[in-house]
Amino acid sequence: MKGILLAGGKGTRLYPMTQVASKQLQPIYDKPMVYYPLTTMMVAGLREILIISSPEDLPRFEQLLGDGSRWGVSLAYQEQAAPRGIAEALVLAETFLDGHKSMLMLGDNFIYGRLDFLREEVEQLKEGATVFGYRVADPSAYGVVEVDADFQVVSLEEKPKKPKSPWAVPGMYLYDEHAPAYAKALAPSARGELEITDLNRVYLENGQLRARPMGRGIAWLDTGTPENLLEASSFVHALQSRQGLIIGSPEEVAYRRGYLSHDAFAQLVQQLPRSVYRDYLEHVRDEGSVVAT
Ligand code: G1P
Repeated sequence: MKGILLAGGKGTRLYPMTQVASKQLQPIYDKPMVYYPLTTMMVAGLREILIISSPEDLPRFEQLLGDGSRWGVSLAYQEQAAPRGIAEALVLAETFLDGHKSMLMLGDNFIYGRLDFLREEVEQLKEGATVFGYRVADPSAYGVVEVDADFQVVSLEEKPKKPKSPWAVPGMYLYDEHAPAYAKALAPSARGELEITDLNRVYLENGQLRARPMGRGIAWLDTGTPENLLEASSFVHALQSRQGLIIGSPEEVAYRRGYLSHDAFAQLVQQLPRSVYRDYLEHVRDEGSVVAT
């Protein structure tokens, strides 16, 4: 399975923060936002990831993340000429995917917690698509999945005024190899975009859409408004300072998951500027155990 990280959109709700650099480049506490979904994909076991962004921002992502080799992964880049919807990412990624299955993740989705559920789904997906359901107090701002008692999907709606369930659909989707073809055949919505909910509905109509609840032990936080950003930053800060472990470090994930040898990791840490971030990674380097808990 290959990964697609979509970091499009202008982030106008965060203006003037986003006047120069896009939303996904803004910090959540001590790291650029995009580090969090990127490390989520790495933890899920993905090693080949395509980053899609606007022509203005794509070079900035490339500057920030590089080709991924220092983290033991391979990162490729692709422009989205205009914000034509999340499902367009699958069309743009067709050549990159080259018949592989995919995990599509939005660059502004912050997911924290034990990700075994995700790894299981990645390993299990043979055909069809998988979405996740996360209980939120107000689902009307999201895609909403209605499910029966066995968590079988009954319906999917995009930002319904009257949600049929409390289950919002996070911006993290798993697809079989047919997704680019299905995405190409979609008609644009009233707002002129290829809607991800429409793509997921194609799978639902084919009887091939699976939904899996993300348990209450997982945090899926919004990053859309300045207040959301502050809340997400406080969350990261609270956990990091309590545990002495940091969230969303590609260097650490690469090392603990064995994408980098101890020597390669030590060399990488040596190249980082003096900072709290480097101090932490030096500690990880010297700990002598790579066990990822
Ligand atoms: C998009 C999707 C929505 C999903 C959300 C998750 O909405 O259209 O279905 O629940 O991402 O972040 P947007 O954030 O683009 O409004």
